[in-house]
Amino acid sequence: MISYSKKDELIVSKIRNGTVIDHIPAGRALAVLKILGIKGNEGYRIALVMNVESKKIERKDIVKIEGREIDEKEASLITLIAPSATINIIRDYVVVEKRHLEVPKQIKGLIKCPNPQCITNNDVEAESRFLTISIKPLKLKCEYCEIYITEEDVVRQIL
Ligand code: CTP
Ligand code: ZN
Repeated sequence: MISYSKKDELIVSKIRNGTVIDHIPAGRALAVLKILGIKGNEGYRIALVMNVESKKIERKDIVKIEGREIDEKEASLITLIAPSATINIIRDYVVVEKRHLEVPKQIKGLIKCPNPQCITNNDVEAESRFLTISIKPLKLKCEYCEIYITEEDVVRQIL
């Protein structure tokens, strides 16, 4: 792995095929891997870069996954904890697609409602469902008990 300390230089080597999730807010790369369901024992070559200098945001994290192209649904969930992230699909060393995705209007199943009385925590059949009320700052509302949660709540839960 190549490392440079100077700004604007390569931190880890380029990948051949796969996905580069760039401009992740510093410290959230592990939460991004969690959203993707990657534990590290799947065999993908993964580069995790944390707290490096960036032009766009103060400090950023980067996740590079060799051999896996993430889909739209996974990408939209990443926006919940990393709204600034760019998803680059790489084929044969070239960025063939750069996605700036939008926060989904509805989030099913990923997040647990923090209200212990909520039906989603008491009925095994019920799947959690949140509506996006605002994006900046992120605010989600449980469709069942109408409790509100923030971006910090989501990050805390995922990590
Ligand atoms: N990248 C990579 N392997 C490749 C091509 C690109 O790991 N074969 C990485 C780059 O290091 C960068 C990201 O994918 O972190 C996006 O690449 P590129 O679009 O070339 O960089 P920028 O123009 O700096 O992207 P942006 O405008 O999104 O900052
Ligand atoms: Zn609820």
